[in-house]
Amino acid sequence: MQKKISEIKEQLQNRLNQVNTLNELNDLRVEFLGKKGLITELSSMMKDIPFEEKKTFGSLLNAIKDETNDLINHKKETLEMDELQKKLETESIDVTLPGTKLTVGGIHPLIRVIDEIEEVFVSMGYDVVEGPEIETDLYNFEKLNLPKGHPARDAQDSFYITDEMLLRSQTSPVQARTMDANIEKGPIRVICPGKVYRRDDDDATHSHQFTQIEGLVVDKDISLADLKGTLEILAKKLFGEEREIRFRPSFFPFTEPSIEVDVSCFKCGGVGCPICKETGWIEILGSGMVHPNVLKGCGYDPEKYTGFAFGIGPDRVAMLKYGIQDVRSFYTNDLRFLEDFNRVEGGE
Ligand code: DAH
Repeated sequence: MQKKISEIKEQLQNRLNQVNTLNELNDLRVEFLGKKGLITELSSMMKDIPFEEKKTFGSLLNAIKDETNDLINHKKETLEMDELQKKLETESIDVTLPGTKLTVGGIHPLIRVIDEIEEVFVSMGYDVVEGPEIETDLYNFEKLNLPKGHPARDAQDSFYITDEMLLRSQTSPVQARTMDANIEKGPIRVICPGKVYRRDDDDATHSHQFTQIEGLVVDKDISLADLKGTLEILAKKLFGEEREIRFRPSFFPFTEPSIEVDVSCFKCGGVGCPICKETGWIEILGSGMVHPNVLKGCGYDPEKYTGFAFGIGPDRVAMLKYGIQDVRSFYTNDLRFLEDFNRVEGGE
């Protein structure tokens, strides 16, 4: 019997050494301690043992059972530790590895300028309105005092879709739309940013698509002085507090008088440099007092109401402000340009 027990012990030890996984260990437990296991079989021999030896046999049996259990449990712990160790090794994070670079978008330079201009006017109580990019001839030209055949139409060579529909060549039609839509024919203070289209050959200073911001104020007793004061605020906000503006006479069919506005050069302060072409002044926008025909055509009585209007090009402003050489860069979406720009500007 002793021999049998020693054999089982030896067998157990050998088998334990071969076990590498928890599953294998479980099989081994069944093999030795299960219902038909080697040690269980030993217990069944109890009935054939002479009475005087039963006690010794019993304690031997218990001892080997306990020992087997201990050995198996110990092995289990070792295997579990190994497994944990392996897991920790394979799942460990190498903090010295370079991280994944997150690319963050930036605000497009044109949108930046449009936002800045909107902010100036919203702070003065203006509403920001929009109009359609596919416009009728009526609003794009006729209501703006540009009847069919008017020579000034040629200056805005347009993309016609039908005889009466075109891609708007300016944001000025939104003036007429806003006045028409104002049922009470009361005061108006709006700006309208948006895209416009002209049949220009693209080059460094021309793009067939560009942006404009239209401004319109209609009220009783609006004068040129109001226009000048307003545009002075805009010029200072965009190009610096020391800026001055000057008016030059011009012609637009929808304003009378019409005025072109220059701002004193932000680079040289007015003494002359390449940016201002040695004149000390930079042209920034067109404007004027709303033509009586336009007011009348949109249901306003020009005897009671006057107004001023202006149109500014964010493309030109952005080029001046940020030293951008080619207007096409705004529209080709070359990431190198946009990233470069955002790096220089450093975002908001
Ligand atoms: N729409 C004009 C253009 O595209 C710009 C302009 C000039 C708008 C004078 C105005 C204005 O509202 O009063 O050339």
